[in-house]
Amino acid sequence: MKRTRAHESLVNDYLRLLKNTLSNTHYRSLEEIPLTASEIGLAEEVLNNLRARFAEGASAGTIPQSEEVRSFLDGFTPEFGAAYARSNQLQSLTLLEASSLDNVEWCVRSVLEREIPGDLIECGVWRGGTCILMRALLKALGDSRRKVWVADSFQGLPEPDPDVSPLDTLSHEFLKLVGGFRVSLEGVQKNFAAFELLDRQVRFLPGWFCDTLPEAPIERLAVMRLDADYYESTVQALEALYSKLSPGGYVIVDDYGILPLGARRAVDEFRSRHAIESPLVFANRAVAYWEK
Ligand SMILES: C[S@@+](CC[C@H](N)C(=O)[O-])C[C@H]1O[C@@H](n2cnc3c(N)ncnc32)[C@H](O)[C@@H]1O
Repeated sequence: MKRTRAHESLVNDYLRLLKNTLSNTHYRSLEEIPLTASEIGLAEEVLNNLRARFAEGASAGTIPQSEEVRSFLDGFTPEFGAAYARSNQLQSLTLLEASSLDNVEWCVRSVLEREIPGDLIECGVWRGGTCILMRALLKALGDSRRKVWVADSFQGLPEPDPDVSPLDTLSHEFLKLVGGFRVSLEGVQKNFAAFELLDRQVRFLPGWFCDTLPEAPIERLAVMRLDADYYESTVQALEALYSKLSPGGYVIVDDYGILPLGARRAVDEFRSRHAIESPLVFANRAVAYWEK
């Protein structure tokens, strides 16, 4: 399709409006709304619960008393927890901040421009906002062949194994603040439909990654975005999908910079096991990506 400057400008306007709507920053920024005492009280309750679990795990020997775990606990306050829970309670359809959404756009535009073959996938979608953006990008940029794969349990985060990832066990307590990211398949489909983007180019993979990803009927990927927080979930997604990623395609790991989550260790171990030397680039403090 030949693109005029006016067409490009309309595409950019559409994508900007969509990103602002999906992240609920179009009308009011989250920071402008003061936290209430009951929000902070709820977060405090969760924090106390978390400290108690840490102490129990310490005496039972199930949670190693690492410095990493201790600094995680010291590092967050009821106010921090309440502000985090906020992002879920409002109407945003994605937890991604603007620069993370821009990174998705950049990666998708790059594979389209360089004609890197393959579909797009997000593993860990919550309300589906990032996948909605992926589908919108294909539409706006005139790609009617590639699919967007939407992979999630649609029943929230799995219970982490404390022996495998004690950090994730603690984070799990914290993430209960936001309902453990539980959203039904129907709920996510409804969100796609609200943007008129639920069509044959969107495919859903409902279930736990260990069951769905190895068997998924995906031939090739050009962008794989991992946003499943935990060590085991991230390992499962990388092990099942990396071999399907085309050379020149991108792996985006949302939680690489979020130290209380196991995703970073999963990525570091995978890259070292497969001798991957392509540099990891930080899109912002949380998101890192590399080109295969
Ligand atoms: C942080 S949320 C994803 C946020 C989303 N990408 C966005 O744009 O806001 C993490 C998601 O990962 C999913 N998840 C984590 N581990 C999983 C697993 N092993 N199998 C299936 N889904 C998983 C959860 O259900 C949850 O929806």
